Amino acid sequence: MSEFVLIPMYEKVIQDLLEKQYSVVDHFFSIEDVEHLRESLLQKYDEDEFKKAAIGNQFNEQIIKTIRGDFISWIDEIQKNEAESIFFDKIEHFTNYLNRTCFLGIQEREFHYALYPIGTFYKRHLDTFQNDDSRKLSIVCYLNEEDWQEDFGGELAIYKEKESINIFPLKGRMVVFESQILEHEVKPVQRERLSITGWLKTRKL
Ligand code: OGA
Ligand code: MN
Repeated sequence: MSEFVLIPMYEKVIQDLLEKQYSVVDHFFSIEDVEHLRESLLQKYDEDEFKKAAIGNQFNEQIIKTIRGDFISWIDEIQKNEAESIFFDKIEHFTNYLNRTCFLGIQEREFHYALYPIGTFYKRHLDTFQNDDSRKLSIVCYLNEEDWQEDFGGELAIYKEKESINIFPLKGRMVVFESQILEHEVKPVQRERLSITGWLKTRKL
């Protein structure tokens, strides 16, 4: 067995998850990584590869709009570009560490870009579906420009039993949280809001 090296940033995330079920990491990805991912998102958006996000098929479009208003584009790892390749290498490294230290049994992942146009939001929800509890950890990486200010809104609000925590979508910030435990919402945005969002999953049974 190869030597195990502690990685302080990962240890902090694990400790946070154990203590409060979420963690905020401000420099998980480098500024260059974030900028390349941002360019990649905008290019795909220009090429019309984004779809209005859905929430299952039992709702009609009108109702969906009252729940979430973002546009998303799933990332196909088979056809990933350079920026995405660096992104997934880092996610892979982190996942292997989690599996080795926390026995999480993560075997799959899925990630999409998301763009919230001005005025949109995502109402309070849980990231798990009925009949599918494979999503274990939710990960959101913000790809906004440096100057995100509080009056732009777009906070991620995480609901705990007795309080809620508001996290602003600052450039380069990554938020990890327990998909099956924490309800959360995206407050209305006054500025286009960009991110990559995804899930680390056990294999679906
Ligand atoms: C989601 C979500 C949070 C965010 O896409 O399910 O809750 O901050 N995103 O973008
Ligand atoms: Mn969510």
